[in-house]
Amino acid sequence: MVTVDRSRVQSLLERERAEFEAQNPKSRAMHEAAHHLVGGVPMTWMNKWAGGFPLAFAEAHGNRITDLDGQTRIDFALGDTGAMAGHSPKATAEAVTRRVGELGGITTMLPTQDAEWVANELTQRFGLGHWSFALSATDANRWALRLARLITGRPKILVFSYCYHGSVDETFVVLDDQGNPASRPGNVAPAVDPTQTTRVVEFNDLDALERELAHGDVAAVLAEPALTNIGIVLPEPGFHEALREATRRHGTLLMIDETHTFSAGWGGATSAWGLEPDIFTIGKSLGGGVPCGAYGLSDDVLKRLTVALRTGADIIDVGGVGGTLAGNALSTSAMRATLESVLTKEAFEHMITLAGSFTEGITTALEASRLPWSVSQLGARAEYRFVSPAPLNGGASAKAADDELDELVHLYMANRGVLITPFHNMALMCPDTSQEDVDRHSELFAAMCMEIAG
Ligand SMILES: Cc1ncc(COP(=O)(O)O)c(C=O)c1O
Repeated sequence: MVTVDRSRVQSLLERERAEFEAQNPKSRAMHEAAHHLVGGVPMTWMNKWAGGFPLAFAEAHGNRITDLDGQTRIDFALGDTGAMAGHSPKATAEAVTRRVGELGGITTMLPTQDAEWVANELTQRFGLGHWSFALSATDANRWALRLARLITGRPKILVFSYCYHGSVDETFVVLDDQGNPASRPGNVAPAVDPTQTTRVVEFNDLDALERELAHGDVAAVLAEPALTNIGIVLPEPGFHEALREATRRHGTLLMIDETHTFSAGWGGATSAWGLEPDIFTIGKSLGGGVPCGAYGLSDDVLKRLTVALRTGADIIDVGGVGGTLAGNALSTSAMRATLESVLTKEAFEHMITLAGSFTEGITTALEASRLPWSVSQLGARAEYRFVSPAPLNGGASAKAADDELDELVHLYMANRGVLITPFHNMALMCPDTSQEDVDRHSELFAAMCMEIAG
């Protein structure tokens, strides 16, 4: 294995930063002129894109984005999963256009026929029989956590260190260097210290899970099937079976968040790996880019909820579960079209095959350059991490973070026509991604590794 020479990284970085500025004058000018936007961007996390300013886009179709300066790039970021169906997929765009125009009624506080169709489709894919909608995965998680506490009468939840489930207060807790629970670095003014609401263990650590559940106060374990927001951290063999068995034995609900891991297949990791969640949450990709989220409840959870509601908890009005625009006609029409015609079984086959090829391209380049990095695949998504072997938990993966290498990789790719997701080194395939697109990334990645390895 070679040791990465930091001074070479620095000089490559300078070269790529200069090239990025030279290629994108209009994006830069737009950013600098945006005086009324906090941080010069519509949402502050957009400043996470490498290069000092985000590319301003003019058009996006399928897996291509064209920026203000007229350059079209291959997009593997795909709205960090919000556009897993591709940008403006035809069926979704048609359904949404019809809803907005010909039929009318974007949000009315009334149901349309699409909602039950979508709920039934989610049941076919993920197995749980009862669904309700949100406008984001964050909200689906927030509301479902309330239901979990209501049903079990328990105050706490348990999460895995360095998980991400949206801006959900209870989840911003990690294990610190001494292995103690702590508010996640950067957590913005939490109402209460999250170590009061939440137990936290490392992913794949079954002993710690057992120890923490034994307190008997955990309403739900909220888990992604694999961590996807601190690199991809895959479960070890037997982890999910043990997690399911332990949660049942301790009277704790298992809440599976498939917002990202839906990439595992048509029925997400839940179907691909035979998971049996009590509660299921999802968002982002379902509506082909139109804001939406959903949570599903098992038969047993619905029965228990019905009983628990007799205590007077209010899930209809102002009890803290619900949003006026959730389940609106626009997002339900988008979800129906996307699930019916875009994110089909055939589409997933194509996307997963390509992600396999993408992963192979990286493996080959790492072997040739002898860089000590690793790559993990999760269905239609793959991600490289600057450590080898791939980490087995969030804490180890967090330690492998390398901002300089991140920036270098992102700029190297963007300057040569390829976008990967800004928060990490994730690439996602959509139905429009082609083998040629993957080959282009492999070719660039191999050349970049050789330059870095020297
Ligand atoms: C696993 C997971 N759950 C929930 C969310 C929150 O999604 P949103 O920001 O769309 O609410 C995210 C966002 O990255 C996520 O990765």
